[in-house]
This record gives sequence, C-alpha cells and structure tokens, in this order.
Amino acid sequence: MKPRAAGYQYSPYGDRTQTLRQIDRYNASFTRVPASPLIPRPVTLSEQTGPIELPRRWNAGKLALSRAVENGPRAVGQLIRVSGRVTDEDGSPAAGVVMEIWQANAAGKYVHAMDDHIAPLDPNFVGQGRLVTDEDGRYEVFTVKPGAYPVLYSGWWWRPPHIHFSILGQSWMNRFITQIFFPGEPLNETDLLLNGVPSHDVRERLIFEHGDTVMGDLSYINYRRDFVLRGHRRTPELA
Ligand SMILES: [Fe+2]
Repeated sequence: MKPRAAGYQYSPYGDRTQTLRQIDRYNASFTRVPASPLIPRPVTLSEQTGPIELPRRWNAGKLALSRAVENGPRAVGQLIRVSGRVTDEDGSPAAGVVMEIWQANAAGKYVHAMDDHIAPLDPNFVGQGRLVTDEDGRYEVFTVKPGAYPVLYSGWWWRPPHIHFSILGQSWMNRFITQIFFPGEPLNETDLLLNGVPSHDVRERLIFEHGDTVMGDLSYINYRRDFVLRGHRRTPELA
C-alpha cells in the first residue's frame, strides 16, 4: 500500500457503515468487545512496519481451495471462482498483501476442532489458505460454495453461506477481517452478523456480486467482491 505522510488523516467512516459493537440476541458480541472506551496507545515503528516479508514467512502465493492437493480429486460442491480487488480509501491498490481465506465445506462443516456440527468432512477439502494480491491489488481463488450451518446454542440461527477473509497490510497491526455472503440467500435476511451492519446499502458491500458463468472442461460461476480497507467507502469488518 502507498506509504502515507506523517500526520495524514484518513477519511472518517460513519458508525452505521460498520458492525454494531453489541448485537441484540448475539451473546458473543457482548464478550468480544470492550465495555469501556479504548485507551489510545502509541504504536511503535516496528509494529507499524513489521514483520517484513509476510508473504514469504507465511508461504502465501496462488491459492486454489477446490482440491486438497494439487491435481487431486475435486471437493464436493459447486465450483466457484471468487475474485476482486483490495484497495485503500483512494482506490490505490493494496498490492502484495497477504489475504487469508477460510470457509465451511459444501455440507456446512469446518475442518476445526471447535466445529461440533454433525455434518460430514470432505477429504478433498481443507477450506483454508493464503494468497498474495498482485500489483493491482487483485486476488482470485477457485473453491466450492460453502454450505449453511447452525449456531447450535441459539436454538434457531443458521449462518448463511459465507467466506471469511483476513487481509494483512504492511504489518500484523494492519489486519482487516470480514465475512462475505452470497446474493439471494434466504438466510441472509435473518443472519445476526450480516444484519449487525445497520445500513442496508452498506450491507451490500458484504455480499458477492454474481458474475458470469463459465462452461467448459471447468464449469463454474464467478463471484466478485472488492474490499476497501479505509475511509467512508470502507468494507465493514465482521469478526
Ligand atoms: Fe463462518
């Protein structure tokens, strides 16, 4: 990302464009955010600029999630291609930044010890990985469309299909985390996290655009989502 001059002021964003700190009926939101105002703490130069070479340290590169191993069998589910661009508030590309992606498989099951949903794992789907954006801030990943899954303690809530994204800028201190949803999903209407962003228009920034379909040896549907990391057009964060 473009370095900013000392004292540079980023455009402010409105609270209605971001996730509510405490979401009614979502108990976890009351324990995940501080109850008291934050105490400003000076950030040191090493925290702002390091560690260097994140992509190399984390072995990030091109990413394809639709198979567990290269040229191995394909995961169960509908093949999709997810792509877009990561930019700063003025449209300048966030080039060479590390993007982490994780998602449930087509049955709505994560490869994670904490996932106690009784749904099958797919031996050909790991559902997580890292890539590096190109010089224009672009990313691309082939994967399968994730399934919905229940939030068991709630007694009613099903998370709609979604993909988790984490974007690390120049350092660990610049971490942006969100979830992106699929257009036209009925469960989008009742999801507490997606609807934790008060502005209807801004919630659209958390939903993929449905792109064209591709037919051939590899048939898939394109989905697109750009991310804006700062400023008044900022993509809402969803942990
Ligand atoms: Fe999730």
